[in-house]
Amino acid sequence: MLRIGLRYSENGSYSRALVAENFHRFLSTNTGRKLQDKVALITGAASGIGKATATQFINNGAKVIIADIQQQSGQETAKELGPNATFITCDVSKELDISRAVDFAISEHNQLDIMYNNAGILCSNPPSIVDLDLALFDKDMSTNVHGAMAGMKHAARVMIPRGSGSILCTASVSGVMGGMGTHSYSVSKFALIGMVKSLASELCKYGIRVNCISPFIIPTPIAMKHMSEIYRHLDAHKVVEIVNNLGVLKGAICEANDIANAALYLASDDAKYVSGHNLIVDGGFTSFKNLDYPEPDQVQ
Ligand SMILES: NC(=O)c1ccc[n+]([C@@H]2O[C@H](COP(=O)([O-])OP(=O)(O)OC[C@H]3O[C@@H](n4cnc5c(N)ncnc54)[C@H](O)[C@@H]3O)[C@@H](O)[C@H]2O)c1
Repeated sequence: MLRIGLRYSENGSYSRALVAENFHRFLSTNTGRKLQDKVALITGAASGIGKATATQFINNGAKVIIADIQQQSGQETAKELGPNATFITCDVSKELDISRAVDFAISEHNQLDIMYNNAGILCSNPPSIVDLDLALFDKDMSTNVHGAMAGMKHAARVMIPRGSGSILCTASVSGVMGGMGTHSYSVSKFALIGMVKSLASELCKYGIRVNCISPFIIPTPIAMKHMSEIYRHLDAHKVVEIVNNLGVLKGAICEANDIANAALYLASDDAKYVSGHNLIVDGGFTSFKNLDYPEPDQVQ
């Protein structure tokens, strides 16, 4: 593996710089320090997937800025994660907040290597299109789509001059197939997957990779709030049980850490040639649909 990329220099010896670069990459992709000295900004990191990812990134040597609308839990999370975590209040639906969070990363650390647009909401819109509340539709779009677009815009602003960077966002299985979320939420997640491909087409020429992750349902606050509105008569444990039984992969449930692992992969040099990709983490759920054959003994 170390031999890949080695070239002879003019005097016939291997380039020391190239050997060192490859060795560094070899180490960073084969040890637990895949993001050594990298700076990451993660939106919606006060909770759930964002918090799990912040933890994973810090454990791999990164400095992480937690940008979240929830001030108290954001500050508590940063404290819990230690000196390599910093919190900034940020409402992603406001471009100025995003711009300030990116500028904060630069003023604190002089660089931004990873921008993870993870913050998202799921408004309680009625299931039928005929009852759609367009104000709630706009709200979903303003956090999930407008917020991620602003995040990508301002990340690109500081990454383009450096000629490198990794931009991520959290889409959803609801953006891969219809019928798995409210229309507003689903449409917003479809948009994110398109956004990733559109931006990857421009940013590749600056060495910036753009990818997204589409998780299956996980019982974090966003999903629990939605499910608890459907199952008002059940306690939280029962709702978690229902959520965890929705998957198709026997013997496993989808957890925030599964998404953090996917984000670590996409953010690190392990994915150095991956861009414009939607990494679906759903245990195979959206890959197939079984034909509902009647049992042979039930048909004449
Ligand atoms: N949990 C799931 O089932 C699931 C499945 C697929 C995709 N997702 C997506 O994963 C992402 C993270 O969700 P989660 O599951 O960790 O839920 P979560 O509720 O634990 O976390 C969401 C975080 O986003 C923050 N946030 C909300 N609006 C914000 C805003 N305007 N500005 C800044 N921060 C804001 C919240 O304060 C919270 O900390 C979301 O984009 C969500 O749509 C979740």
